[in-house]
Amino acid sequence: MSRTIESVAVIGCGTMGSGIAAASAAARCRVLMLDVDAEAVERGLGAVDEEHRHLVETGTIADDLDKIAAYDWICEAIVEDLEVKRDLFERLEPLRKEGSVISSNTSGIPLRDISAGMSPRFRADVAITHFFNPVSVMKLFELVPGEDTDADVVAAFSDFGADKLDKGVVHAKDTVNFIGNRIGCFLMLSGLHKAKSYLAEGMTQETVDAVLGKPIGLPPTGLYGLIDLIGLDVMYLVGKNLDVNLPDDDAGRAFTDFPQVEQAMYDRGQLGRKTGGGFSKMTKLDDGVRHKETFELISGVWRDTVDPDLEGVPTDLGEVMFTDSAQGRLAWDIFGGTLRYAADLVPEIADDIVNIDNAIRWGFNWVKGPFEMLDAIGNDRVITKIESEGSELPRMLRVLREARATSFYKGEGAAAEYLGVDGVFRPMPAADETSR
Ligand SMILES: NC(=O)c1ccc[n+]([C@@H]2O[C@H](COP(=O)([O-])OP(=O)(O)OC[C@H]3O[C@@H](n4cnc5c(N)ncnc54)[C@H](O)[C@@H]3O)[C@@H](O)[C@H]2O)c1
Repeated sequence: MSRTIESVAVIGCGTMGSGIAAASAAARCRVLMLDVDAEAVERGLGAVDEEHRHLVETGTIADDLDKIAAYDWICEAIVEDLEVKRDLFERLEPLRKEGSVISSNTSGIPLRDISAGMSPRFRADVAITHFFNPVSVMKLFELVPGEDTDADVVAAFSDFGADKLDKGVVHAKDTVNFIGNRIGCFLMLSGLHKAKSYLAEGMTQETVDAVLGKPIGLPPTGLYGLIDLIGLDVMYLVGKNLDVNLPDDDAGRAFTDFPQVEQAMYDRGQLGRKTGGGFSKMTKLDDGVRHKETFELISGVWRDTVDPDLEGVPTDLGEVMFTDSAQGRLAWDIFGGTLRYAADLVPEIADDIVNIDNAIRWGFNWVKGPFEMLDAIGNDRVITKIESEGSELPRMLRVLREARATSFYKGEGAAAEYLGVDGVFRPMPAADETSR
């Protein structure tokens, strides 16, 4: 059966649901917005541009769930709770029309848990459609099919995401936190732990953030600034989910709990920008001037924010990791460690390196994805450095070496190719699914 999505029923109109509804209405689709009560729907409707509101019908889950029968895509975006989501799916399954497709926007609940014991029709028509916040800004759209999801259903979501919503579609597998958050959150959680020894030697948090920013092609928020933006509460839940679902031998297992000081911050509600301060805070002085303070993790006191120390840090992308300095060791330890982690996750979390690079560029705004970055800094140098430390090479670097290749990508334009997990170069996927 060929499926087309021309209308969308969004259930749960909070941060994500309202964003998906707004993007779908902006793409001139009919949209249904449902939530637990009229106030929640009204709040969500605020995200939809005035000029597209005539395309939106609203209601409550209790009174209007049967309206989903008139929609092609039923998109669940309610609270992150397996039982609550399953209960909703059980209620709406008999109400949706034949040929419709259905999805969850979960950040990390495995699809196999959501669809366990559900009807064959549900299992064939369901996928995870994982958008990033804010939906209007973030290009990444991770599409995760289940074991029984029909190819037509995957194609319908993929086409709708790319053509109607103008997203970058990434094909992920049903593994914990999918691609973007698996790697992006490894950097943050391992970073909190690994930065400790550098802070103890006198490096400031401002320097940690600055080194883990532009010199390696990451956004200027660095480590602590990014977590302030996301919130320690969200990172805490990510860690708990990883703790339950990561494979036993995964390198991320060492970092699923917060270090002691960050745990204490979480316990007292010092979560980040959403609570007025986390690792840093902005205050307004009497004369109206904005003043930034840093919560010093070593002493546990607030102090004025200082300039970072970037003395001797090279400006060439990634070169810092090969510098014999505290900043160089920090960059290699945390960012280099994340590159090594990513290079070990194919084919576990994605079939190929292209989907991983796209997910990280589009979801975390890195200048280059992990494999593009390895190519940029030189795989030979990275292999030499890893082996000189007596560490094992991650899988894709072994594949590269066995294939006697020097880079993961080669060629330009229509002749561009990427290295497969079997050591064979393949043509890059169609341009509508990638925009490298
Ligand atoms: N916020 C993010 O950055 C982000 C990113 C990607 C995915 N997600 C996922 O998207 C989903 C929604 O997250 P959000 O950030 O939009 O949450 P949110 O709290 O902003 O919105 C959730 C909505 O669900 C409704 N709701 C609450 N309990 C309900 C119930 N029992 N039945 C039906 N509806 C109920 C609420 O009224 C609310 O409008 C979650 O699964 C979350 O993990 C969130």
